[in-house]
Amino acid sequence: SSPQAMRSALLDWYETVRDIRGMPWRRPYDPHLGPEERAQRAYEVWVSEIMLQQTQVTTVIPYYNRWMERFPTIRDLAEATIDEVNKLWKGLGYYSRASRLLAGAQKAVNEYNGRLPDNAKDMEANIPGIGRYSAGAICSIAYGEKAPVLDGNVHRLLSRFIALHAPPKSKQTLDVLWAAASALVDIEDTSPITGGNHGAQMVQHPGDINQALIELGSTVCKVRQPDCDKCPLQTWCSAYQHSKGVDARPSDTP
Ligand code: ADE
Repeated sequence: SSPQAMRSALLDWYETVRDIRGMPWRRPYDPHLGPEERAQRAYEVWVSEIMLQQTQVTTVIPYYNRWMERFPTIRDLAEATIDEVNKLWKGLGYYSRASRLLAGAQKAVNEYNGRLPDNAKDMEANIPGIGRYSAGAICSIAYGEKAPVLDGNVHRLLSRFIALHAPPKSKQTLDVLWAAASALVDIEDTSPITGGNHGAQMVQHPGDINQALIELGSTVCKVRQPDCDKCPLQTWCSAYQHSKGVDARPSDTP
């Protein structure tokens, strides 16, 4: 079955869970936003992604809301003092995240006209605290760029998906998994008009695919006892097909 069908299954699942936990940074992607509004989205997603790096969703939500109330734009943040920033961060831990947000905002204001760079490559290269994962998350979600994400959860999910048994941190493993993550967001044509989505219910969007993978990895494809019965990717998953798929369906055996 086609990658498109697999993405559709993933996105259909994502639609059913997307709003359950009420994440304020999850807003529908709008391809018609102008540069200023896209930059504002990038700022919001940036703050959320940095907060989510070492902290759970339910904890992050009230911190995120207070942060956005106090620093609604990247320029407001750039003018803050480190003390103000740390005060809003109090209780989240890993305070270097807060100081890097401040440094990043100052750099964006001083060197990039008040905007984060408009693509993942430049963002990763130029903004402190933004690595390949964060750049991919921000640029796919806010800009619709076909940039991949690979966090710990997606690493595990994709390793199972392609049944990769290799040292998890080796360069070769990471190359393979980043390539797999890239292939998933590499949608040929996202226009509903020209038919690039091959009949999919919703337009396939890299930011949604990435958020679906992140969420699937953290809630279903868990470290221990993954809930394969709830997984939309079951039929495409090599680990499932090898370990359970054959034995679990008696009707398949002669
Ligand atoms: N963890 C990291 N990024 C996330 C996102 N966009 N949604 C939910 N959990 C996340």
